[in-house]
Amino acid sequence: MTALDLLKRRIAASGPVTVAEFMRLSLAGEGAGYYETRDPLGRAGDFVTAPEISQMFGELIGLWCVDAWERTGAPDPFLLVELGPGRGTLMADALRAAKVRPAFLSAMRLHLVEISRPLRDAQEQRLGAFHPLWHDDTTTLPDGPALIVGNEFLDALPIHQFQMTEQGWRERGVDLAGDGLSWTLMSPGAQTGLLQPAHRRAKPGEMAEVCPAALSLGGALGARVAEDGIATLFIDYGPAASAVGDSLQAVKAHRFCDPLTEVGAADLTAHVDFAAVAHAAREAGARVHGAVAQATFLETLGIRTRAALLSAKANEEDRVAIAQAMTRLIDPRQMGSLFKVLAISHPILHELAGFP
Ligand SMILES: C[S@@+](CC[C@H](N)C(=O)[O-])C[C@H]1O[C@@H](n2cnc3c(N)ncnc32)[C@H](O)[C@@H]1O
Repeated sequence: MTALDLLKRRIAASGPVTVAEFMRLSLAGEGAGYYETRDPLGRAGDFVTAPEISQMFGELIGLWCVDAWERTGAPDPFLLVELGPGRGTLMADALRAAKVRPAFLSAMRLHLVEISRPLRDAQEQRLGAFHPLWHDDTTTLPDGPALIVGNEFLDALPIHQFQMTEQGWRERGVDLAGDGLSWTLMSPGAQTGLLQPAHRRAKPGEMAEVCPAALSLGGALGARVAEDGIATLFIDYGPAASAVGDSLQAVKAHRFCDPLTEVGAADLTAHVDFAAVAHAAREAGARVHGAVAQATFLETLGIRTRAALLSAKANEEDRVAIAQAMTRLIDPRQMGSLFKVLAISHPILHELAGFP
């Protein structure tokens, strides 16, 4: 059964579903979701992520991990965890860069949180030599000091959308309409309690979003690093401060499309509310660094120096490609400013590289 069939059957049986349930059924959870059935990355797929644009991205994150590990006394053993590792490219580049500290590599135990079977296979090919252990979610990760990295992971977690009306908040949902689907408004659920102070300024017609899964992950990982040590690094796109607006988007073959016509066949994402995730982590006892713009993070870590080093050994064609990739990652009109980096650490870590 396809994700669309599952969704239609659910609505026919019990009425309209929330946007969160629509995202969950479309992306992951019942075996037929977008992420469960394909490798969506790369030119032949639907979208390209930072580690697929340039090896420099994963390399700098690898060096960031080594630095954070040394700042907390180089615990041995420790967990190196990636949330939603895609093709394993970021982690492969990170571990290659981390060879500068052999003790880091011998102390780390690699854990990958991934729901997609096709992507687990790709990760096995890239990272099998490091003997990773896979998890469906973070709840089965063993205890202990951990460095946890997630690039474009939070944006795939289901959001609830609320629309302000003259009568107050209503929840956006999805209903059947003939053979297809349509948006609808429903009575709001308890998740309105998660709306941030900035959302209260919404005028009739405006939308606000909350992501309970991102908030509970921020809280759980905040509590974890505050108790067991080291840090979590999230890289994703969204505003630094909570804001009103509709950010749900569907992308297929590198183009935006209608989320209701490509159920299970397009990537669905929403902006990450970094301020809300940071608040959840702080409440759980962790220290928060950022969010800073991706350009700030990568430039502070030395992406320009790394690009110059790679270019020095490259031919003309590759030099152009290296320069273009760097521009794509740090130009404010491309990924440099919309993408943000947030670290959540043990309170002992007053400073972390990349967060000036
Ligand atoms: C946008 S891709 C990013 C991949 C990779 N981090 C990169 O930057 O190339 C999202 C990743 O998260 C995984 N994913 C999405 N939702 C997930 C969930 N609920 N639990 C675990 N993994 C999930 C996807 O299968 C994929 O590996």
